[in-house]
Amino acid sequence: MSDVIEEIQSLEAEAPGHLFGKYELGKLLGCGAFAKVYHARNIRTGHSVAIKAVSKQKVLKGNLTAHIKREISIMSRLNHPHIVRLHEVMATKTKIYFVLEFAKGGELFTKVAKGRFSEDLSRRYFQQLISAIGYCHSRGVFHRDLKPENLLLDENWNLKVTDFGLSAVTEQIRPDGLLHTLCGTPAYVAPEILAKKGYQGDKVDMWSCGIVLFVLNAGYLPFNDPNLMVMYRKIYKGEFRCPKWTSPDLKRLLCRLLDTNPETRISVDEIVSDPWFRKGYKEIKFHEEHLELKDHHGDENSADKYLNAFDIISYSSGANLSGMFKKPDNSVKGERFISAEAPETILAKVEEVGKTENVAVVKKQGWSVKMEGQNGKFQMTVSVQRLTEKLVVVEIKRSTVGVEQMWKDKLRPQLNSLIYQPPSTS
Ligand code: ADE
Repeated sequence: MSDVIEEIQSLEAEAPGHLFGKYELGKLLGCGAFAKVYHARNIRTGHSVAIKAVSKQKVLKGNLTAHIKREISIMSRLNHPHIVRLHEVMATKTKIYFVLEFAKGGELFTKVAKGRFSEDLSRRYFQQLISAIGYCHSRGVFHRDLKPENLLLDENWNLKVTDFGLSAVTEQIRPDGLLHTLCGTPAYVAPEILAKKGYQGDKVDMWSCGIVLFVLNAGYLPFNDPNLMVMYRKIYKGEFRCPKWTSPDLKRLLCRLLDTNPETRISVDEIVSDPWFRKGYKEIKFHEEHLELKDHHGDENSADKYLNAFDIISYSSGANLSGMFKKPDNSVKGERFISAEAPETILAKVEEVGKTENVAVVKKQGWSVKMEGQNGKFQMTVSVQRLTEKLVVVEIKRSTVGVEQMWKDKLRPQLNSLIYQPPSTS
């Protein structure tokens, strides 16, 4: 409970227990080195979501900015029925919040812990897992951290893979084509990672899928020992024994997955033609659709009036993630700043400058005005957006030609006086 309180207290100008006036924060679902996951409810729709809160301080301290950017970029591109969706990303001064699809059924392995699965049920979950992993691999995305807590179930008991936090995209591959980061959970870690040889992300994922399949069928881990070094040695040697109820076809597949040689280890393409895997396999159909990460400011009266992470992170120093989702438009320049002034005061300043410069200022929808001059040769819009109860964000967008001088000499000096100065923390 104290985690929830800490989370709530870290938010500025928020109703107690509310996140950005949009989500009601609930119980803690999970805890990791850099993140905590909470259940939350969308206040307007009543829908459940999972919110992963990452401390910006930890991100910056651990030099993880690039890592977080990568995670957002990867997750926003993934849209598959067996992968947890990323709905939106929001942030405060101190935290980044990933709003995720809520997997109501909890962790898959909580169910296995109550008793091993039948071969048919093991196959069903394995097929769903391979479908998700194959989808990622074909896009150059590797999970690299498949482990029990990343395998969740939805309300229909279908698998949902989550947490692509440690996944790598092809760009991170070294010139020799191999990945070199040591990561992963010991019991699920592939031997080539232990050997610190450099590895291929797809082959490492196949090994972890092999461990998952073994656990589903057996109810226990294939490589296990209280002594970590002994456990590593078993993994390295690929020493495991299938329980007696394992069918010959399943045994054969497990041997191909838990092959210590990544070169000969089975790939997703080979798995889909494996006889054990194919039984009852229906190609999982889904709509290829690009997730539009919300980057709009919504209607003034809705909870959306509060800005999301793309905006907020870009105002605070350090982790500017906003550029990840927008194509740069070189014909338009923009500035943003935070102000504690009323929107009316800010827009009155703009109108004043327009008057003295003989430029028409037209009111637009909401708190927004547009300046247009020299028969449409230049344009500048100033929009004000509420950030918290006390603060607003002022966004200026202007054409790169014709307006520079007026911006620099007239409008900017007027607006400078409105910029919010946060209270000193030193
Ligand atoms: N635990 C971690 N992520 C979760 C999610 N998306 N849904 C439910 N529980 C979770």
